[in-house]
Amino acid sequence: MPTHEITAASAGTWTLGDMTVNRIGFGAMRLTGGAAFDSGGTPSDRDRVIGVLRRAVELGVNHIDTAAFYFSRLRSANELINRALAPYPDDLVIATKVGPGRDPSGDWLPLARPDQLRGQVEENLRQLGRDHLDVVNLRQHGLDSIAEHFGALAELRDAGLIRHLGISNVRPQHLAQAQAIAPVVCVQNAYGIDNRLSDKTLRTCGEQGVAFVPFYSIAGDGRDAGGVADSEAILAIARAHGATPAQVRIAWTLARGPHVLAIPGTGNPDHLVENVAAGALRLSADELASLD
Ligand SMILES: NC(=O)c1ccc[n+]([C@@H]2O[C@H](COP(=O)([O-])OP(=O)(O)OC[C@H]3O[C@@H](n4cnc5c(N)ncnc54)[C@H](OP(=O)(O)O)[C@@H]3O)[C@@H](O)[C@H]2O)c1
Repeated sequence: MPTHEITAASAGTWTLGDMTVNRIGFGAMRLTGGAAFDSGGTPSDRDRVIGVLRRAVELGVNHIDTAAFYFSRLRSANELINRALAPYPDDLVIATKVGPGRDPSGDWLPLARPDQLRGQVEENLRQLGRDHLDVVNLRQHGLDSIAEHFGALAELRDAGLIRHLGISNVRPQHLAQAQAIAPVVCVQNAYGIDNRLSDKTLRTCGEQGVAFVPFYSIAGDGRDAGGVADSEAILAIARAHGATPAQVRIAWTLARGPHVLAIPGTGNPDHLVENVAAGALRLSADELASLD
């Protein structure tokens, strides 16, 4: 099948609480232009990235990851999503994250205190133009226990502002801490062929039916495409399938388990089509072994 006809359903679906999503989703961090989080960089072309979002949905993407702190000088990921997609399709799940924050000039603020999380949730509601958020991830950094923060989000869930909760940048003990307070539908951690630090967390999620949502699966620890060199094994598999290294990287994450949801990030319409098509790329046992 020609690449541009492959849809996000080609890798199957998974459930986030009571919502079903295609396993190929979309990450919104790259929509704003310049280097990610770079308030001084060149803003993205508005029409082009709005086109990317609309095309993603046309291709069956119904799981979009975002954050209020994804913004550059003139672009906000949430505003672009709102502009491109509202009124939102019924089956679209928008997942956002709270914890980190930036001031209006883009400088990072310390991790929010538990009592500040309501304001961050409300900021996402305003920007996305919604009355509730489908999924909110607590994106932690440096906490031994996330119980207090996660408890604050659980209260907002009880109040109807949030439908489902997830956690991000976590270790296995954080998952147990959160689950003692409220259900966790997804865990979002850095993970990819070159970064297996979250292998145990991925497995634990699989055992418990929790979605594992890797980020930097294409970019790797270099955090930008090309930041990590593609190994000969990746290049050989790409050649064998007439695929690109980025597609091999996405397909590899999907092969780690049916609970793995890809959210590749791009502001490039051609990369979008390629990333969605990666859902149809099946790697053989030998190929997977060669990537280990
Ligand atoms: N929870 C967290 O702490 C956290 C942290 C980071 C990101 N995230 C989320 O995870 C999503 C994915 O991570 P990410 O966007 O940082 O990294 P990624 O998906 O691993 O890679 C994105 C990078 O790869 C390029 N790229 C994308 N598709 C490509 C393709 N087919 N061929 C070649 N290059 C390609 C993009 O540039 P182009 O725009 O030029 O395509 C961009 O530089 C983000 O968008 C964000 O929603 C979460």
